[in-house]
Amino acid sequence: MGVLISKLLQLISFNGVILLIAMVAAAAAQAKPVCDNMCGDVEIPYPFGLSTSEECYLGKNFNISCNSSDHTPIIGNVRVTNISIKDHEMYVMASVAEACYHSNGSHEYSFTTLFSGGIFTICTTKNQFTVLGCDTTGIISGTKNGTDYTTGCISRCNNRSDAINGSCSGVGCCNIGFPDGLESFEVELSSFQNHTNVWNFNPCSYAFVVKKGNFSFSTDYLQKWPHKRLPIVLDWAIGNETCDEARKKRDFACRNPNSECHDPETRRGYQCKCKQGYQGNPYLPHGCQDINECKDQTHTCSRADGCVNTEGNYTCRCPKWYHGDGTKDAEGCAADFVLIIQIAIGSGVGFICMFLFTSWMYFVYKKRKIMKLREKFFQQNGGLILEQRLGRQEGSTETLKIFTVEQLQKATKNYDESLIIGRGGFGTVYKGILADNKIVAIKKSKIEDENQIEQFINEVVVLSQINHRHVVKLLGCCLETQVPLLVYEFVSNGTLFKYIHQEINASTFPWETRLRIAAETAEALWYLHSTTSIPIIHRDVKSTNILLDDDFTAKVSDFGTSRLVPRDQKQLATVVQGTLGYLDPEYLQTNQLTEKSDVYSFGVVLVELLTGKVALSFARSEEQRSLAMYFISSIKEEKIFEILENHIIAEGNQEQIQQFVELARSCLAVKGDERPTMREVAMELERIRNMHKHPSVNLEVNSKEVEHLLAET
Ligand SMILES: *[C@@H]1O[C@H](CO)[C@@H](O)[C@H](O)[C@H]1NC(C)=O
Ligand SMILES: *[C@@H]1O[C@H](CO)[C@@H](O)[C@H](O)[C@H]1NC(C)=O
Ligand SMILES: *[C@@H]1O[C@H](CO)[C@@H](O)[C@H](O)[C@H]1NC(C)=O
Ligand SMILES: *[C@@H]1O[C@H](CO)[C@@H](O)[C@H](O)[C@H]1NC(C)=O
Ligand SMILES: *[C@@H]1O[C@H](CO)[C@@H](O)[C@H](O)[C@H]1NC(C)=O
Ligand SMILES: *[C@@H]1O[C@H](CO)[C@@H](O)[C@H](O)[C@H]1NC(C)=O
Ligand SMILES: *[C@@H]1O[C@H](CO)[C@@H](O)[C@H](O)[C@H]1NC(C)=O
Ligand SMILES: *[C@@H]1O[C@H](CO)[C@@H](O)[C@H](O)[C@H]1NC(C)=O
Ligand SMILES: *[C@@H]1O[C@H](CO)[C@@H](O)[C@H](O)[C@H]1NC(C)=O
Ligand SMILES: *[C@@H]1O[C@H](CO)[C@@H](O)[C@H](O)[C@H]1NC(C)=O
Ligand SMILES: *[C@@H]1O[C@H](CO)[C@@H](O)[C@H](O)[C@H]1NC(C)=O
Repeated sequence: MGVLISKLLQLISFNGVILLIAMVAAAAAQAKPVCDNMCGDVEIPYPFGLSTSEECYLGKNFNISCNSSDHTPIIGNVRVTNISIKDHEMYVMASVAEACYHSNGSHEYSFTTLFSGGIFTICTTKNQFTVLGCDTTGIISGTKNGTDYTTGCISRCNNRSDAINGSCSGVGCCNIGFPDGLESFEVELSSFQNHTNVWNFNPCSYAFVVKKGNFSFSTDYLQKWPHKRLPIVLDWAIGNETCDEARKKRDFACRNPNSECHDPETRRGYQCKCKQGYQGNPYLPHGCQDINECKDQTHTCSRADGCVNTEGNYTCRCPKWYHGDGTKDAEGCAADFVLIIQIAIGSGVGFICMFLFTSWMYFVYKKRKIMKLREKFFQQNGGLILEQRLGRQEGSTETLKIFTVEQLQKATKNYDESLIIGRGGFGTVYKGILADNKIVAIKKSKIEDENQIEQFINEVVVLSQINHRHVVKLLGCCLETQVPLLVYEFVSNGTLFKYIHQEINASTFPWETRLRIAAETAEALWYLHSTTSIPIIHRDVKSTNILLDDDFTAKVSDFGTSRLVPRDQKQLATVVQGTLGYLDPEYLQTNQLTEKSDVYSFGVVLVELLTGKVALSFARSEEQRSLAMYFISSIKEEKIFEILENHIIAEGNQEQIQQFVELARSCLAVKGDERPTMREVAMELERIRNMHKHPSVNLEVNSKEVEHLLAET
């Protein structure tokens, strides 16, 4: 079925006639002086030559014969139409492989033309392999550097009307690329059914390599094929060696001093090219001639009359208008030029200075405006009050840092939404990273009226005096913005509230941890009430204001409503502030703020820790709505174990829980006087914690102490 319809043809034979040729300096000619260089209207440049003499071409591979009857140059079996020395290309007309069938299935075929000898290669970027027919397989196989390659394509169709003009995509016509740089190739055609089904409209198959852009499919070709030959572009080079190898040989072709040797990328052999600034035929002794750039207008001089051609290049002289007599040489011209440039630079510099000065003035003006605004904010935000109050307490200012707007903007990526870690009535809290990589929490306070400014300053002042490991540390503040900003140490694990009510996971939050957090919080509140120079009442103790760090160490935060209580005053009359569910009922009635209000609120936190229930829930029945009331009534009805968190009962020491319950109850006493002080609470919690470590020894004493404590309150 397969029909091999082409074979390799030997192209070139050698005919040994030697002539000595006198060298005549006619270098621009493309062929050697005494050699014929025209065949019909095609010029044959050296290293190619017409077959009059061996000296006229470079070895037998470059021998071209001229058909005496129709005057066309022939090499091997292809007709040459053009030869390019510069691009090392040869344009040839090559014949088409053809297989024609009879209606009974027998067929005749014709050869296609091929070439060998190694100097020509066929490049796939400039040519393509095309197959025509409706029952056709076309295969191209070739060799390259001693290796064989084969590829091909199939085109089938049942009806002439299926084929489309100009489209070569497998219906009546297909084309395909092939390995780059084949040194020879052959084409094979075959058919599935010897065209018997399509014979009436397509009796023949064709296959050929054609220069890209020189073939367009027409459906008429299925019936009647007009082309005997089609154009192909061949690449050529000298020999089969690299430049380095060839340079050592006597017959090296790039001997011309103005020529250079190049190794082509996709093939063997070497190519000669004229150096930059020269043009012509690099294979001829004086073939590379200087390019007169001034004449060609390819120079880059500003004026044509300033261009002077030199060997291999050109120079630019200064134009005539510049120095009048036109006699100055390049150096003088350059000197004058420098002068002009200096003047130009001089005025340029002046202009730039003016510009810079104006910009600077504008910048200063802008900056001053911003500074004024910041100063305004600083005052508006109570900066003066703060300075006054900080001034009164020596030693405390040095720990408090005043941040600039830019520092905090950078730290919070310009208050990026993704960095928000808390939001509430108090404002927004961002996580920030300072320039020294310290992680901080930045609170953007929400301040609507002047009264709140005092509250804000209050928090700054209160916190600036406190340095306790269970109190969130205030690192500094920034007052230059419209809303004041406070910078705190960053407490990584969020609020106690979150752990009690939202992340219900007994394993990460066991009884022991709860007990420790209670003790640490109590210690912090005791410190606030007593240790600092002026007692501080927190006024808003609740589980959301107790933060936890990496190892669940408690840190008391949010001093927005706290009050400093002068030593000589036991209680303060204020507007009632705090959070429902935690509010001291006595304070609510009397408006008299005492330390015991914090004790009550802390009591509610203790009950939260015990029961895992929120301080105030409208989901619970009316009597149970307030957790404090619910807790007290449960104790009275002796149903206390029903409301405790299950896993606490499971893991806790009964005795410990009992005493913790007692302590919470004492903190929740209606009358402030009956509640223990924060100091007592802290010590009691410490004792309860230690009990666990020596359970049997201290049991008796402990319960007595509690009784004593309760009796006292
Ligand atoms: C060049 O080739 C032609 C035919 O292709 C041949 O007749 C001629 O003798 C050859 N010339 C030389 C010098 O080999
Ligand atoms: C020369 O040209 C004639 C007329 O085109 C042709 O018949 C003949 O075969 C050609 N000779 C060669 C050697 O190609
Ligand atoms: C041959 O090619 C060169 C450029 O490659 C072109 O200038 C010239 O006109 C072409 N000659 C013919 C006869 O096609
Ligand atoms: C097929 O037909 C052609 C002419 O149409 C004839 O020359 C050939 O001998 C036939 N072949 C067979 C095998 O019949
Ligand atoms: C040609 O083949 C030889 C070995 O067969 C190899 O060493 C050489 O690199 C090849 N050249 C190219 C250009 O592929
Ligand atoms: C070919 O197509 C034409 C028009 O589309 C149709 O009339 C004809 O029947 C088709 N022939 C075959 C063999 O399918
Ligand atoms: C394709 O173009 C040829 C003329 O080049 C025309 O005769 C033929 O009818 C066209 N075929 C189609 C399907 O348009
Ligand atoms: C096609 O032709 C070949 C040789 O002429 C023959 O061996 C083959 O059987 C034919 N195939 C068909 C399908 O007619
Ligand atoms: C090939 O195409 C070019 C332009 O693309 C054209 O000038 C040239 O005549 C064509 N050659 C042939 C043989 O059709
Ligand atoms: C290179 O060409 C020479 C002569 O043209 C030949 O003898 C030699 O075998 C070729 N070398 C290769 C690797 O093809
Ligand atoms: C030609 O001269 C210009 C300066 O006039 C220089 O930049 C360029 O490199 C020169 N070219 C060559 C090939 O020497």
